[in-house]
Amino acid sequence: MSGTIDLERVRLETGVTQDRVYVNNARMSPSPRPVLEAVQAIQERAWREGWMGLDQPGIMARARTAVADLIGARGTEIAITQSASYSINLIANGIDWQAGENIVITELAYRSVAMSLLRAAQERGLEVRVVPAQDMLLRPEDFRKHLDNRTRLVVATMQPMFCGVPQPVAEIGRVVREHSNALYCINATQAVGQRPVDVRAFDCDFLFGTARKWLRGPRGIGFLYVREPLIPQMRPTYMGYPASLWTGPQSYQIVDSIDRLHLGDYPYASLVELTGAIRYAMDIGVEKIYQRNQHLGKAARLALREVRGLELYDLTHGVMGTVPVNVRNVPAEVAVAKLEQRGIIACVAYEENALLGLRKIGQRELIRVSLHYYNTEAEIERLAKALGDIAIEGAR
Ligand SMILES: Cc1ncc(COP(=O)(O)O)c(C=O)c1O
Repeated sequence: MSGTIDLERVRLETGVTQDRVYVNNARMSPSPRPVLEAVQAIQERAWREGWMGLDQPGIMARARTAVADLIGARGTEIAITQSASYSINLIANGIDWQAGENIVITELAYRSVAMSLLRAAQERGLEVRVVPAQDMLLRPEDFRKHLDNRTRLVVATMQPMFCGVPQPVAEIGRVVREHSNALYCINATQAVGQRPVDVRAFDCDFLFGTARKWLRGPRGIGFLYVREPLIPQMRPTYMGYPASLWTGPQSYQIVDSIDRLHLGDYPYASLVELTGAIRYAMDIGVEKIYQRNQHLGKAARLALREVRGLELYDLTHGVMGTVPVNVRNVPAEVAVAKLEQRGIIACVAYEENALLGLRKIGQRELIRVSLHYYNTEAEIERLAKALGDIAIEGAR
């Protein structure tokens, strides 16, 4: 595809667009039809021939290479995980923490990031410091005040789970490098698939994400990038056959490769789906998706600003596809159910998943509308009209 995105084609290949307005991509997004056809083909072959002849190492290698191509890494730096939460736990359990060190997270952190690191801190005698966000934007200079020579890890969010403000992760990385010896980790879960990701440009040590959201891949798969020289230093959380060599009755060796973070069997059909989803996004062009999602994010805010009875929360800085909104006097859960009755699929963002960020804006729940490249202006109009009607019903 050249020029703009072939909307007709991508919508045809996305069944959920046929009879509803699907604006739930920050939570999960269905795989495109050609990707599912590739999965069906491999399942079919396994049914006919058994899995043994299906080049499972090749399937795994292609999935790692696809992730690596997408984020500017090498396949040998990619661990396939079960989720983003699993990935951050591999980091929290994998670093040889020393008591007295500190970890820097941010007010935009997702629950699993905070939980895994708070637990590590409590168990290992570490301190967790929190960089504030101003109008939902992290300022690189604010990291400086939180760094010192005991800072071991900094985790920044590339795209918060509850709002659309893209975070300046490359600039944050520069501040981290200049003012500390800390490891730098980026949570790209809400960015990968809707915004270019480049681990070399970000100069990060770790980066992780998940397949089912903006990448439009399978459920239950995530990935973790670890910068090559760090890999042999990562302590595996679990010990299974990919990670180890059984060298004697009382001895074993942990492999030096990224396989040290792998455990047991993998969902090979889902690896095919992940590879296909990444190639599909790259064929469209991540830069084009980025432009389109920015455009749709702006268009949605402009449309919703005109609707009486709505509250919008992230109008100050640049935006991506996620739009946090509430209908005054209508709980988010009720509004989302009413949207669903009208054929519009969004979801609720709960405080418990982004405690610090939602407390900052004083909301326990938000309606999370999240638009991806295949959504249209006409769908935004339908959404605005529906939310307007819900506001009128709520006010009665
Ligand atoms: C920013 C962010 N990080 C991490 C996660 C957790 O992803 P997973 O379900 O793959 O563990 C989410 C899920 O919504 C998220 O939005």
